Amino acid sequence: MRYTRRSLVLALVLFPLLAGFRASDASAQVEADEQLYEIYCGVCHGSDGEGVERAFPPLVESRFLLENPERTVDIILHGLLDPIRVDEFYEGAMPPVDYLSDEQVAAIMNYVLNAWGHDGGTVTPEQVEERRRVGEPVRFRDPNR
Ligand code: HEC
Repeated sequence: MRYTRRSLVLALVLFPLLAGFRASDASAQVEADEQLYEIYCGVCHGSDGEGVERAFPPLVESRFLLENPERTVDIILHGLLDPIRVDEFYEGAMPPVDYLSDEQVAAIMNYVLNAWGHDGGTVTPEQVEERRRVGEPVRFRDPNR
């Protein structure tokens, strides 16, 4: 009986402690991913993902980003030339960001898919590695699509 109570107390004390450690691990990961985003994407698309009017399209709630994460990996690896419409019309060019490692691209993808209220899932470094092998520059011949 005494032992049971003691382990109950132990469990009550340890559980929040361990859960806390897990949570802070996870948020440290998100912070690291966010930093990569800031450095390699935020300069153009903005820290808040809102883009810059008439120059850089927003990532927040962008269907180009959320509908097809694989296509966004291709955009990161090859850049984007074709005009597209994300709310408004953009005809700039995004340079390839292909000097990042598979791990860094996956980290950025996981950040943008889940930041700003998105609930878009995960991308693994293996998936990025595959796109590096088989992916191609993304074409949008119809800017509305
Ligand atoms: C030098 C500026 C620049 C950088 C850096 C940059 N982009 Fe872009 N991005 C653009 C431009 C400009 C377009 C639109 C190109 C066009 O009109 O064809 C674009 C388009 C996109 C699109 C499709 C449109 C949309 O808004 O959903 C996605 C997704 C995207 N970028 C993600 C990223 C990610 C993720 C990074 C970081 C790895 C990144 N970009 C880095 C300039 C940039």
